[in-house]
Amino acid sequence: MIQFTVNGFPQSTDAPADTPLLWVLREGLKLTGTKFGCGAGLCGACMVHIDGARAFSCQTQIDQVAGHRVTTIEGLSADSSHPVQQAWVAERVPQCGYCQSGQIMSAADLLQRKPHPTRSEIVEHMSALAPRAQHGGRRRQPWRRTVADEAQPRSACPAGSRQW
Ligand code: FES
Repeated sequence: MIQFTVNGFPQSTDAPADTPLLWVLREGLKLTGTKFGCGAGLCGACMVHIDGARAFSCQTQIDQVAGHRVTTIEGLSADSSHPVQQAWVAERVPQCGYCQSGQIMSAADLLQRKPHPTRSEIVEHMSALAPRAQHGGRRRQPWRRTVADEAQPRSACPAGSRQW
């Protein structure tokens, strides 16, 4: 039996040790805010936090989280009040919504560790994600609400150009 914590609640599973964390979250715990995209560590739709740091849940075996804290998009805040979530809504970023939880979890990870990242740090951090859908410039707008102006990404959505 593997024991761990999800969004502040103790959980356990008898899933095989090599089961992806993503499967346990979605199928076992019904936390479907974390999405399956590529299954290969490329798109970031499955992003969660493990002990406060971002991690691809599709690439994390369930035995690797034994005794650790997992946070999903459902647990990022109790009432969607996390600054990144508020900025996402205010700027009307979502379109299809498929990659949104992964994008938000990744942005929250960066801002937790570095509240005022530079533009290049944002680009480098968010370039780990390859969203399925284009979002035009709207995905850049939350950064304007959460970090200094000089940190604003200025070019196209990484879905198309891999540059901000
Ligand atoms: S589903 Fe995990 S990175 Fe794409």
